This record gives sequence, structure tokens and C-alpha cells, in this order.
Amino acid sequence: MEVIVKETYEQVSQAAARVVARVLNAKPNAVLGLATGSTPLGLYQELIRMHKDEGLDFSQVTTFNLDEYVGLPKSHPQSYHYFMRENLLKHINIPKQNAYIPSGTTDNYEAFCAWYEQRIRDCGGIDLQVLGIGGDGHIAFNEPSSSLGSRTRIKTLARQTIEDNARFFNSPDEVPIYAITMGVGTILEAREIVLLANGEKKAQAVANALEGPITTMNTASALQLHRKAMCILDRPAAGKLKMLDYYEWIQAKMPNAP
Ligand code: PGA
Repeated sequence: MEVIVKETYEQVSQAAARVVARVLNAKPNAVLGLATGSTPLGLYQELIRMHKDEGLDFSQVTTFNLDEYVGLPKSHPQSYHYFMRENLLKHINIPKQNAYIPSGTTDNYEAFCAWYEQRIRDCGGIDLQVLGIGGDGHIAFNEPSSSLGSRTRIKTLARQTIEDNARFFNSPDEVPIYAITMGVGTILEAREIVLLANGEKKAQAVANALEGPITTMNTASALQLHRKAMCILDRPAAGKLKMLDYYEWIQAKMPNAP
């Protein structure tokens, strides 16, 4: 995996935006896989800026989001539909019908998950998948012990994840227990992957993902199997990497480092 270390979160976001722009310039109708959470917010702000100031065009782009909470309507402020609309989609010129996000309110989840996988295939597959990483190494909602071959499905959230989420909800009954999420196997089929991480709280998960064994206990470690995966980190998130000097040596010599 290529490892790019930046000094600040802002630089991580700008580097990630340059990767997205490189993909869109080469293929204006690219399919992007998108993530929610605090990590990609800076990337989305930078993409919005590039759209407004530099004409970065999303008119032919298709996006697929990784996951959504089960039971939350699109209008719920904690839903990922709401997050994506507010933080990216309404600010760029992507046609509304080209932005796919798993449904949290379908009455047939199994059929929906199969349809979502098929829809990704019908759109030609994901050209670039953007990922964050959880403190336990999860990618999307593939919590520890998720199969590395998993596909889009319903997952029960880990107790820690539910407790972490509780602060965003008015009452404990509202906190979702299930999510619909792309599987690790779905994610690995993207042609290119960029994993972003910032902050010291991610340092151990990042070290395990990049330098530990490939294991379901840290689903991000499955990215070691990918042909074209890049990890862009700020210095605190890189703090536990044993091979940091090596990555920085390589990065300095890389002709097209973002
Ligand atoms: P965060 O979440 O970006 O809010 O840190 C990442 C994740 O849990 O996947």
C-alpha cells in the first residue's frame, strides 16, 4: 500500500481531493465510492471549493455510499443521506439520480442489498473508493470479525459504536442498532482505494491495518491485498507506524505523490 504522510488534516484533505480530481480528469463519468464520518469532511469541502473555483465537474459522475443506519428516514439529521446532501451533494453539480446511498427504510433489506451490489456492477464498478477507518480498524460498518469476503448486508453495530453514537440522538430508543453496509469484498473490488486517517486516536488502528497481519479483527487490514490502495495520514495518525522512515523515503521519491 502506498503511504502518504502529511503534516495536517487540511493537507490530508487536499491530497485526497487531488486524487479524486485526477480520477475525474481522466474519466469524467467515473464512479466514486464515498464515506461519511468526520474524516472525509475536509475532502468534501475541498471538492466543493474545486467545483466552485476551478470548475471540477461532477455532471457525469456516479457515487455509491458505503453505508446507512437502518430505521432512519432520509430526513433524519443523523442519517447518512442527510450527511451527504448537506456536506457534499447539494454543493456540486452531480445529478441527483446518480448519487446512491443504501436505504435505511426499505421493507426488504435482502433484496435491497442484492440490488445495490448489482447497481454498482451495472454502473461499471467503482473507480475510486474513499474510506475512513474506525478506532477498531473497521471500514464502512464492517466491524471486527466481519468476513473479508463480505458483500452488502445488514450488520449489527458493535456495542462501542452504538454507545459512541448515542450522543447524537435525543433518546436512547432512537439510536440505530443495525446498519446496511457494503462488505469488505465489495470494497476490495474498487479499482483504486484511498484510505484517510487523522488524529492520534486512529494511530493504533492504522498501524495494525498497514503493518499487522491481515485479519477480520481489523477489516482495514484487508486493503493489504489490494493492487492500488493508498493511505493518506496526518502525522498523529502515523504515530505508531514502525516503518514511517521508509514510507517517507519512498514518498519523497514518488513521481506522482498527491
Ligand atoms: P470518523 O469515523 O471519520 O468519524 O472518525 C470513521 C469510521 O468510523 O469509519
